[in-house]
Amino acid sequence: MPKQNLQARGPVEGFLEAHAGLRVDGERLLGRLEELGKIGADPAGGITRLGLSAQENAAMAYLRDLCGEAGLETETDPAGNLLIRRPNARRGTDPVLLVGSHVDTVVQGGRLDGAYGVIAALEVLDVLHSHDVDLPVEMVAVAFANEEGALIQTPFWGSRALCGSLEDGLAAEDRSGQPVSAYLAQAGGSPERLQEAAWPEGSIAAYLELHIEQGPTLERLGIPIGVVNGIVGRTILDIDVLGEAQHAGTTPMADRRDAMVAAAEIILGVERVATEHAVCATATTGYLVAHPNVTNTITGTVRMTVEVRDTDPGKLVRGEAAVRAECARVAAASGCDIDVRASMRSKSVSTAPALRDAIRVAADTVGLEHQTMPSGAGHDAQIVALVAPIGMIFVPSKRGISHAPGEDTAPHDLVHGANVLLHSVLGAQAVAAAQD
Ligand code: GLV
Ligand code: MN
Ligand code: MN
Repeated sequence: MPKQNLQARGPVEGFLEAHAGLRVDGERLLGRLEELGKIGADPAGGITRLGLSAQENAAMAYLRDLCGEAGLETETDPAGNLLIRRPNARRGTDPVLLVGSHVDTVVQGGRLDGAYGVIAALEVLDVLHSHDVDLPVEMVAVAFANEEGALIQTPFWGSRALCGSLEDGLAAEDRSGQPVSAYLAQAGGSPERLQEAAWPEGSIAAYLELHIEQGPTLERLGIPIGVVNGIVGRTILDIDVLGEAQHAGTTPMADRRDAMVAAAEIILGVERVATEHAVCATATTGYLVAHPNVTNTITGTVRMTVEVRDTDPGKLVRGEAAVRAECARVAAASGCDIDVRASMRSKSVSTAPALRDAIRVAADTVGLEHQTMPSGAGHDAQIVALVAPIGMIFVPSKRGISHAPGEDTAPHDLVHGANVLLHSVLGAQAVAAAQD
């Protein structure tokens, strides 16, 4: 049906030309980003708006208010995702063009990671609605819940739920063991109906996500638009190091099983995996808790997480194996028991060539230079990629900073990116219709 509509409309070029002058409201976009950035502002710096927390719920409520003002309809699905539609959207079995990102952050993260893509998607829908642009393939904007997995340890929670790849979702919990169900109910989701968040196969014609780059490439090149060709895969390993808590003054150095020292050896070994040995692109120890964490007691246990990333699936597997080998080496040398479990694996994916082309044409329409590049950060898009073609647009990040309070992008770059998203939505119509 969308295909017929598109054909009835005439060549795609005609459709694009008719709307070539359309632009987002830059002031409105920047103002909304500013407001959203106040939700979860952390007195210690940056923004702490963890997925499925009260702060993410407040951000979703803010979005719902904006949609109400714009005359757009909202729905919170059982996984806590916010879906936004035009009021006259054709409901039914027609596949849609899904556009969005997430509004949760890491602890003391930035105001743009995720939030920019959601506010821009809302802006695009707002513009299309107010200009009465009749899209052959309906656009639905989405704010995915809990992309970061910073509170509930399941990154890509919302996109996995919507794409039907959230296995054993209700087993998810926070670091103190509180189950996800209570958080989900607070977020307006429904633990009992979680499975119903999954869309039927074939209902996403295509997916677009606009995001800050979170790295230094575009800024260094002086190019305003990145056309993403692929997204890294990632494996997260939860590691428990079990030593023996003992007196720090009386236990001879030779008699110790110090979990902190073993953890330090692992950390350095993890770094070597991606530096000296170049097994995979990155390897990071980002989380560590020592117990009992007392000045004059030898550390008994350490709980830590390590993650490895690469666009090459083989290198990702070898990176994980290398970290496991480091842990085995340290266990043998230290006498500590070391348990390693993979808690998350996301696949590396490619974006759809036709959507890359649509983004390039959109950037040309707006008069912006573009650069094809991979993404070293993970995105909801890589989950959607398992069920539909995806396209991703990047804008420069100042000094490449992200997941930190200093995250920033020049206002004109933010507006440029949203205009490219708008024209990519128009250009993606042909790609989306062809999926039908
Ligand atoms: C997502 O934010 C990531 O960690 O790449
Ligand atoms: Mn992030
Ligand atoms: Mn993000």
